Amino acid sequence: MNHPAMQGLTLNTPSYVKNARLIAWVADMVALCKPDTVYWCDGSQAEYQRLCQQLVDAGTFKKLNEAKRPNSFLAQSDPTDVARVEDRTYICAAKKEDAGPTNNWMAPADMRSTLQPLFDGCMAGRTMYVVPFSMGPLGSPIAHIGIELSDSPYVAVNMKIMTRMGKPVFDVLGVEGEFVPCVHTVGAPLAAGQKDVKWPCNKTKYIVHYPETREIWSYGSGYGGNALLGKKCFALRIASNMGRDEGWLAEHMLILGVTNPQGKKYHVAAAFPSACGKTNFAMLIPPAGFDGWKVTTIGDDIAWIKPAADGKLYAINPEAGYFGVAPGTNTLTNPNCMASIEHDTIFTNVALTDDGDVWWEGMGEAPAHAIDWQGNDWTPQIAKETGAKAAHPNARFTVAATNNPALDPAWDDPKGVAIDAFMFGGRRSTTVPLVTEARNWVEGVYMAATMGSETTAAATGQAGVVRRDPFAMLPFAGYNMSDYFQHWLNMGEKLTTTGATLPKIYTTNWFRKGDDGKFVWPGYGENMRVLKWMIDRIEGSGKGTEHITGVSPSYEDLNWTGLDFSAEQFKTVTSMDKAAWLKELELHTELFQQLAHHLPKELGETKAAFEKRLAA
Ligand code: GTP
Ligand code: SPV
Ligand code: MN
Repeated sequence: MNHPAMQGLTLNTPSYVKNARLIAWVADMVALCKPDTVYWCDGSQAEYQRLCQQLVDAGTFKKLNEAKRPNSFLAQSDPTDVARVEDRTYICAAKKEDAGPTNNWMAPADMRSTLQPLFDGCMAGRTMYVVPFSMGPLGSPIAHIGIELSDSPYVAVNMKIMTRMGKPVFDVLGVEGEFVPCVHTVGAPLAAGQKDVKWPCNKTKYIVHYPETREIWSYGSGYGGNALLGKKCFALRIASNMGRDEGWLAEHMLILGVTNPQGKKYHVAAAFPSACGKTNFAMLIPPAGFDGWKVTTIGDDIAWIKPAADGKLYAINPEAGYFGVAPGTNTLTNPNCMASIEHDTIFTNVALTDDGDVWWEGMGEAPAHAIDWQGNDWTPQIAKETGAKAAHPNARFTVAATNNPALDPAWDDPKGVAIDAFMFGGRRSTTVPLVTEARNWVEGVYMAATMGSETTAAATGQAGVVRRDPFAMLPFAGYNMSDYFQHWLNMGEKLTTTGATLPKIYTTNWFRKGDDGKFVWPGYGENMRVLKWMIDRIEGSGKGTEHITGVSPSYEDLNWTGLDFSAEQFKTVTSMDKAAWLKELELHTELFQQLAHHLPKELGETKAAFEKRLAA
């Protein structure tokens, strides 16, 4: 290459890379970021092993005990780089109103001049990894290609698990194919001879999206959704823009298949906010009393959903792996997940046991001694005295979907699966009942739009405060939230005109608490009881009672075989308190005031109807 600023540095472009726009962009980024070398990932297993070994040598990875956790590694991050940074995440649309009031915004030109000096020389002393990936089955008409340039080998190996990554992507891309350019740096250039740290990052962080030009620029963090740019940045924030323009949906949803004893199969897509149970629900094992029922996983975090000629909505999982919450996961709550992570797994920010295995809070019996996620000695006694956690509450595992024993045979099907129901579920200790069926599409959109949830450790900030999290997309909608609501309403209307039966919409809440502060609903596998009721409703056999916001089951409408759960307990998780709902609707009013610009009128009308029912 003879780029003026490259001073002889070679791009090392493999001969099979033919895309002129890609090559020119990499040259520009090399000139800007000034890495020592450029390495193009081929996505092979040999490359994965080599990079993992390199991470071990650099001290970023610890290899776990081969007998206990074959081919698995542990990374412990910098204590300041442990979760998504929502306050540092920007949607730089040309117009502020297109980012909307729920997103941080800066004018694109201003952001570009802010980032320019930060990216200038940011990869000095490091290798730039060129990571080609497909979101969705390679070559599928629903899939899209991204190229991530990153100076983090940790990112490269995680992307290998999380996406279809490697050389075949270039064949699909061809000479003129489209891709989303994603630039990522940990923001820690190395001077000549300077020794690296095990988790380089920068206290300045920017996670930036330019929706019009479909670009992603990420600076300063190596963790999760900040750094694995195929996930939230591309598959949600940029893809939601594509979906709006092209008539489809990019959602923060798991996708599951559920098969009844007669062999009839249904598909459900469910949006729960971060760390509110998507991975768990997607891997559910039906409990006692549900002989012959089977749940299979298509995806655990993101769904791309497109209408097909038959008037149905078809969903694919754009990802190829799971980046799941470790704490709270155990063989009782999620056996399929525990089986998935027995081997070939990357763990981040869990504790290391003395026998070279991993441990986290809620995994089971605590080890007598461990090294906690920050590298300190940890014992149950220390925990008792200081409250020190062995694992960070947002500790995660990265594992290939193919490790999941409950993987759905259609998980990789390019045409996707037809959705029969949508679910929206927040984490609410009060007010919101276990399950409600919306009477129609508009009421369902209303319930999703006004969903509240207690915040979790998945994002930095205070955990446990109720905030509105519309569609579980508050941190992920890449454009104006009110326009996003309108897009959902439009999709419903368009499908109705084809004569298709729209998926039913449900809201759920597994998290109501009793006076003792404990969860009343047993949750996890027992959520099958609620899922079965939804299927019954779809079949027309499920009974329910109408109330203010929709239809909910009475105690006798659920199957209780194999579970000791009283009518009194059921009341605790399903009651609709009038005073609480008056307050709840006030919060909806507040949200609608914030989102007044372009807020669809149907939402205000639905609220008025709810208020009338509540007053009656
Ligand atoms: P992201 O990957 O952040 O988008 O989260 P997720 O929605 O996939 O969350 P995940 O399934 O990993 O669950 C996070 C936490 O919720 C874990 O600590 C679980 O133990 C807990 N959890 C999941 N399902 C249930 C449930 O039914 N009841 C209760 N009480 N807790 C649950
Ligand atoms: C979430 O926070 O919703 C996640 C994890 O799925 S991360 O990829 O870090 O965003
Ligand atoms: Mn998520």
